[in-house]
Amino acid sequence: MNKHNEVRVDAASKIAGLEKYTRDLHIENALLAGTVRSSKAHARIASISFDEVFDWAKVTILSAKDITNNFVAIIKNDMPYLAKEEVNYIGEPILLLAAENEKILLEAKKHITIEYEELTAACTLGAAIERNNTDGLFEEIYLENGEIEETFSNAGIIVEDTFETGFQEHVYLEPQVVVAIPEGSTIHVKGSMQCPYYVQNAMNELFRGTEIKVDVTQIMTGGAFGGKEDFPSLICGHVALLAWKTGRPIILSYNREEDIQFTTKRHPSKIHAKAAVDTEGKLLALDMDILLDSGAYTTLSPVVLARSVLTSFGCYSIPNVRIHGRAIKTNISPCGAFRGFGGPQSLFAMEMLVEKIAQTMNIPVWRIKKANMLSVGDKLPTGQPINYSYGLPQCVEKVLSSSGYEQKFKEFKKYNETESKKYGILKGIGISLAAHGCGFTGLGENRIKAIAAMELLSNGKVLIKTANTEMGQGVDTAYKIIVSEKLHLPFEDIIIEEKNTSKVPNSGPTVASRSTMIVGKLLLDNCEQILNALSLKDVEFTLQDFNEATTEYYKNHKKLSVQKEYKHPNFIKFNEETYKGYGYPVYSWSANVAEVEIDLTSYQVQVKKFYSVHDVGKAINHQQSEGQIQGGIIQGIGYAIYEALSMENGEVRNRGFRDYIIPTIQDIPEMRVEIVEAPYFNGPYGAKALGELPLVGAAPAVASAVSFAIGKTATKIPMTPEVIATLIEKSNYEY
Ligand code: MTE
Ligand code: MOS
Repeated sequence: MNKHNEVRVDAASKIAGLEKYTRDLHIENALLAGTVRSSKAHARIASISFDEVFDWAKVTILSAKDITNNFVAIIKNDMPYLAKEEVNYIGEPILLLAAENEKILLEAKKHITIEYEELTAACTLGAAIERNNTDGLFEEIYLENGEIEETFSNAGIIVEDTFETGFQEHVYLEPQVVVAIPEGSTIHVKGSMQCPYYVQNAMNELFRGTEIKVDVTQIMTGGAFGGKEDFPSLICGHVALLAWKTGRPIILSYNREEDIQFTTKRHPSKIHAKAAVDTEGKLLALDMDILLDSGAYTTLSPVVLARSVLTSFGCYSIPNVRIHGRAIKTNISPCGAFRGFGGPQSLFAMEMLVEKIAQTMNIPVWRIKKANMLSVGDKLPTGQPINYSYGLPQCVEKVLSSSGYEQKFKEFKKYNETESKKYGILKGIGISLAAHGCGFTGLGENRIKAIAAMELLSNGKVLIKTANTEMGQGVDTAYKIIVSEKLHLPFEDIIIEEKNTSKVPNSGPTVASRSTMIVGKLLLDNCEQILNALSLKDVEFTLQDFNEATTEYYKNHKKLSVQKEYKHPNFIKFNEETYKGYGYPVYSWSANVAEVEIDLTSYQVQVKKFYSVHDVGKAINHQQSEGQIQGGIIQGIGYAIYEALSMENGEVRNRGFRDYIIPTIQDIPEMRVEIVEAPYFNGPYGAKALGELPLVGAAPAVASAVSFAIGKTATKIPMTPEVIATLIEKSNYEY
């Protein structure tokens, strides 16, 4: 395949402001929807009263009583569309309102009084563990391999600590917005979302037993990052229900304040990790206990935890391993999917544990990482062998040399010892190794049975039909490249079908960085089928040959539609009880080096430089792959040092960007991104997953650099000035 550096197909329309987002849709006769929410973290609803001075004819009110199938179908179906008798978090929807304008909605809200009988709430992991409620455990996973007890009791050196990671808000540019438009017994649901078929399934369950049919369309989405994976199912239910009750189109548009307070976040974690090592720093055993704060309902927590467990051992060969993971219920707004999906939490713990081993044993951390890194032929604790598409060693070599790591390691040490006082600045350099399992965990892909379809039109153009959504990551461009390479067609002859569930097959959700590797491969197979039908398979042909063959084909046929269903190669098996087997069909890998400075007056960390090398199998579009890597790193830097969500007794205190700080242009370091291509035999042109990995490796690299600078292992992110101050106080250095 040629090297592609294409301008994204959606770039011009977005930059020119011509792209139509959900808020740009012109919907006749629509009502606006509003949500009345719980002000208590855990309570019984005692009464709801409507003030008689208000003219209630102006609003439609919908409550749990109106909903027969009152559950959002995701994994466990425990979350209601509207709370009925009990509320489980601050902000939980209790009533929906629809009215002609925002002003009436606001007025109406003021005239509704809800009385509660408060119940004991557990708003933090600590409180939830103390409560020790059996129904407070959404998922528990054990992964064990080798002789844990014996290794630890014979080990000379044991290193352990507890690691904590915080919430993270997605900060997509476009807050949540969905609409529902009734037409006879059909409701058209449209909006900003990643997974039209997740919404479709949820709507099928919601209206089961009625005559109502729903179809779902993704409208151009202004960023998602996992935040529009599970959440839209809830609000699409809200607008669909209101459309059904009023018979009018409904628009539900969250403002930033509502979005930041009441939509999903990355799961905070508390992870205890313990390692046994030999005198050279070789890892003998790992024992890890992972707790994820999951919020009030299950949502996607079981699968987020699964990825957390399967990412926890990092990129190392460890003969004896015990991982125990739990997703814990708390009385906060449910946590959900976020780029990396449980991986960033456990990888941070593992990388910082290795950091602590290095500091305890006084061995440079990069030496320990290299000495323990997986080699071809090794097995993961799941038993999965590393025997194809393994480019990590090359990533490590490249990142060490491009960053000048070893030299700076010495230089910065010397600087910190001799000059840091003079300048009031500490310098640090850190390294992380990261892995991302490509596609769904375990048997997920076999369960989803993704289907991608294509059509060859009589004018020689082809139509791509998948449910995979563009949200800024560039999937539309990637698909055009994949197809144009195979069919020798220019981009303008490749049309991407609208992501409407009545027009495209279920190719699965746009999550787990699966769109290029899994669905892109199906498209390649579709192309093969088209070439076969045109008798062009395995022959050299030009665009003219293709067009002539198409004309010839249409002389005798009415249509050329092809489709293909995904299934893992046969040897890819996974046991969901024991967690043994192929957690993922293949992994993408990265090695990252961060340089930081810590201001000894303000305790603010700044990332000065970031070097990253990713093995993505094959970069379908180079500039776009680099863009994904840069963006993921910046989001990971935010996770590492800036993004602090303040949760007090179950209430999110942040109201927007004045108090939820993300990296700005000034905080973005000089970056050097390189790509390694260790092809995967079952990906299109060898491509693996790319979308999430850049975020996974970023925070540990920054935390490694901070640990270097302070001489003490960072155990907590975000590393706000308060966290840095505590770390400095505890360190042996004198400043
Ligand atoms: N990049 C942009 N610009 N916007 C996004 O919303 N989402 C990320 C990642 N990159 C996202 C993004 C997440 S969470 C995932 S799972 C992948 O893109 C999904 O897209 P892919 O399957 O095409 O990799
Ligand atoms: Mo990405 S968290 O899998 O949407």
